[in-house]
Amino acid sequence: MIVAIDGPAGVGKSTIAKKIAKKCNFFYINSGNFYRAVAFKHLAYNGDPKSEAEIVETARSCNFLIIEGKLFLDGKMVEHLLRNKEIDMASSKFSSIVEVRNIVNEALRSSAKSLDIIMEGRDITTVVFPQADLKFYFDASVDIRAARRFQQNESDLSLQDLKEEIIKRDYNDRNKKFGALKRANDAVYIDTSYLTIDEVCDKVVQNILGLKQSKVSGES
Ligand code: DC
Repeated sequence: MIVAIDGPAGVGKSTIAKKIAKKCNFFYINSGNFYRAVAFKHLAYNGDPKSEAEIVETARSCNFLIIEGKLFLDGKMVEHLLRNKEIDMASSKFSSIVEVRNIVNEALRSSAKSLDIIMEGRDITTVVFPQADLKFYFDASVDIRAARRFQQNESDLSLQDLKEEIIKRDYNDRNKKFGALKRANDAVYIDTSYLTIDEVCDKVVQNILGLKQSKVSGES
């Protein structure tokens, strides 16, 4: 079974997808980490952040592997190196390059082969797995997303700076030529603004159980 979740930055996709993966015994894939890994490698090798050709070359050279839910890049576990302001902005920019998206999408699809997976990102329900068994679109206001990021305390930015960064990333994510963030018609829409993590998880799990149930009764 493929469960796909999309939504803007800071809406709680990864926290919730991880929890559901544990609960339902699914394989969790955070697609944003693939774009972050491309940005990390490009910046680490002092690649030109303005040269699309060089960025595509970097993306092509990346060897992605997921072991126990963690992303390995070229054989090294890199997840702890992927979250800082430079990578936030570079991954947002690089992910608008169509060829980079094609390379990442291919890697995402091959990581998911023949598994029960839950994958989250921006274009999972629309481009990567339009045929997913279940699709969700998570949403929340900019103020709430900025406040959540601020409380996570992972960045030294002020609340106002975090808010401005989220607005910029939303703009980039929604205005990509290919793979832009949008709500699929058949995705279940969940506004997470005033829900706890457990409340959102329950809604998703109810849908998964409902689908499993209907598959079982359809088979019998
Ligand atoms: O989910 P995240 O913030 O870790 O993602 C990092 C960047 O990658 C983000 O700016 C949007 C981009 N991204 C994308 O374009 N498509 C995806 N499926 C996932 C992430």
